Amino acid sequence: MHLLRRSILLSPAVFFTISADNVGPTYPAPTDLTSDDSLVRKAWDELSSSFDTYLEKKPNGSPLAGTEHVTFSSGLFSLHDPAAAPQLQYHYTAPEIANSTNGTNHVDGDSIYGMASVSKLFTVFTGLLELTDAQWNTPLSDIIPGLAEYANQTLEGSGLAYDTRWNEVTPWALANQMAGVARQGLPATDTLISGFGPGVDPVADLGLPPVPLSSLGPCIDLTCTEGDYVESVSGQPPIFLPWTSPAYANNGFILLGIAISKLTGKPISKIYPEAVFEPLGMSSTFAGSPKKDADIAKSVVLPYFNNTYELAWPSGGLYSTINDFAKFGTALLNSTLLPADLTRKWMKPSSHTASLTYAVGAPWEIMRYIHPDTGKVTDIYTKSGDSGMYGGYLVLIPEYNAGFSLLDGSSNLTARSTVQYVIADYVANAMVPALEAQAAAEAKRKYAGTYVSEDPKLNSSLTIAINGATIPGTPANALSITRWVSNGTDVLAGLSLRLLQSIPSGSAEGVGSGKVAFQATDNPQFASYTASGADSLGVIGPFTGQQTNYDWLVIDATHYGGYGFNLFVFDVDTDGRALRVRPAVTRATLKREA
Ligand SMILES: *[C@@H]1O[C@H](CO)[C@@H](O)[C@H](O)[C@H]1NC(C)=O
Ligand SMILES: *[C@@H]1O[C@H](CO)[C@@H](O)[C@H](O)[C@H]1NC(C)=O
Ligand SMILES: *[C@@H]1O[C@H](CO)[C@@H](O)[C@H](O)[C@H]1NC(C)=O
Ligand SMILES: *[C@@H]1O[C@H](CO)[C@@H](O)[C@H](O)[C@H]1NC(C)=O
Ligand SMILES: *[C@@H]1O[C@H](CO)[C@@H](O)[C@H](O)[C@H]1NC(C)=O
Ligand SMILES: *[C@@H]1O[C@H](CO)[C@@H](O)[C@H](O)[C@H]1NC(C)=O
Ligand SMILES: *[C@@H]1O[C@H](CO)[C@@H](O)[C@H](O)[C@H]1NC(C)=O
Ligand SMILES: *[C@@H]1O[C@H](CO)[C@@H](O)[C@H](O)[C@H]1NC(C)=O
Repeated sequence: MHLLRRSILLSPAVFFTISADNVGPTYPAPTDLTSDDSLVRKAWDELSSSFDTYLEKKPNGSPLAGTEHVTFSSGLFSLHDPAAAPQLQYHYTAPEIANSTNGTNHVDGDSIYGMASVSKLFTVFTGLLELTDAQWNTPLSDIIPGLAEYANQTLEGSGLAYDTRWNEVTPWALANQMAGVARQGLPATDTLISGFGPGVDPVADLGLPPVPLSSLGPCIDLTCTEGDYVESVSGQPPIFLPWTSPAYANNGFILLGIAISKLTGKPISKIYPEAVFEPLGMSSTFAGSPKKDADIAKSVVLPYFNNTYELAWPSGGLYSTINDFAKFGTALLNSTLLPADLTRKWMKPSSHTASLTYAVGAPWEIMRYIHPDTGKVTDIYTKSGDSGMYGGYLVLIPEYNAGFSLLDGSSNLTARSTVQYVIADYVANAMVPALEAQAAAEAKRKYAGTYVSEDPKLNSSLTIAINGATIPGTPANALSITRWVSNGTDVLAGLSLRLLQSIPSGSAEGVGSGKVAFQATDNPQFASYTASGADSLGVIGPFTGQQTNYDWLVIDATHYGGYGFNLFVFDVDTDGRALRVRPAVTRATLKREA
């Protein structure tokens, strides 16, 4: 029986496996994040008290050093527990905002912050709603007329070898940070300089030649017209050829905004509210800084709060609250506006980075969280914002149908930019394991037990336990089948299989509402071939190493009578409690014993 055949690499020496498995969940997504029994609520309360403790005592050497200078709001949200968004939040108002004459003096879930580059996520999502596949893949030189003209122009006197290939740069390449276009496009102000530390004079301090401002073309800051912007950036040398390597580019998103606007015939400032903010009831989210007094009164107003650089809004000029972020994140997880299949397709990496734990999508910054206890990998889809006095994160964790957000602001730029990553790690390190543990606890309650044939003449049954996998080399954490009797035969003969959710309940085009499909596996599973330590063939390399990532390769390979041997489909009630199971190959239905 192929399913039970031991992997050729499985030797008694290989014990430390990592439950990476198929990409996706080990358990069905947790549904209780907020009750007094929820491990997620408990972890959130502990996280909150660690922030409180730092802010009260400011102990030396804490990683949270500097947090006292940063006003921030952070919160969890979940598709399955709407109470999470209002209840699991943390807010801190730094003295400068507590004392501010403009805007709010006390932040909460409705406080409006600049979101900086989280805006890029809204820009791509808006494009997904508004553009066709053909438009996404049209060369920019066909969309923005000026570019064709400047297609072969390099910066005067640069002697540089490459021009940007505007006929190969597409909106989809820009959305994926894979166009290789110049990053900044333009300096932030009407000077020649960007990206150096404060106060650096490139001529006096670094020996660079004086360059006249006029050499930058007709546009020297973001107040210029779209046409002047395009003319000015079109000749800047590329970083890479298109689709070479991810390269973060604000300029790319300014150009993407121009392209979306040209393709739809609508100003970008109108597209966001019409396509996204209004349909999702995001009444405190704005393209550009809020204008109405009532909205400004709810805002975290710091110097440079106002943002009238409409050209740059698609890159970094949107404003929002964490309550609206929760609405947006939940809507993405729910596929409320974009069909579910397109949402799944969108929420994938399009490129590796040089790190095994960090990939890039459109424009997802995808971190691979490694659970410290089991080594399981959970993919976290994020978009960061980090510019000047504002920043934040929108984070989605598809396998839990949950996510979290952070918005922060401070006139202390050093503190803000450092602290926001520390805060995000505090949240991730506390909440990802808690979501996994809660999913496991719910899976135990909802699935564990014995399932027996209702036909008394048929001796068929299935016993499911949590963390019961006993096969050497397979990870222990999962639902598992510890005994399976089919018509009087003990199928597993004392072994056990892990059960991994493959198609969730209620999937529009899945097995249907009220049914949950699982795939059984007994494969060892490693996060990389170097992690496997596999040595039974006397070699560690990528090709033998494929077999340390067996689940995706052999899934559904073993069939009988048209059904996968590994397929188990459960009927669940509205609370997700299993009532019956069908081991597909047996064609029998087994009822869960009370
Ligand atoms: C800004 O934050 C840094 C880092 O926490 C701190 O050392 C510095 O004193 C802060 N500056 C002001 C003006 O508060
Ligand atoms: C207002 O600022 C002063 C110092 O500038 C500070 O001592 C005070 O605590 C602040 N007020 C609040 C409510 O934080
Ligand atoms: C803050 O309020 C003052 C008047 O009290 C006004 O002059 C200033 O422009 C406001 N700043 C912002 C960013 O709205
Ligand atoms: C750009 O250069 C290529 C190759 O030299 C040439 O075929 C093309 O016509 C040029 N395009 C423009 C707009 O000048
Ligand atoms: C910012 O915008 C508000 C509202 O439009 C306006 O009242 C204020 O004067 C502006 N502040 C600055 C510094 O431009
Ligand atoms: C999920 O989307 C459906 C439409 O497909 C909508 O009716 C429902 O309200 C949404 N639920 C949430 C929690 O957003
Ligand atoms: C159970 O096994 C008996 C004896 O081999 C066989 O006759 C019968 O068809 C089997 N029933 C089912 C439902 O598999
Ligand atoms: C059903 O089959 C199992 C496995 O062969 C066996 O241990 C058990 O005794 C059988 N039960 C009955 C009632 O025959």
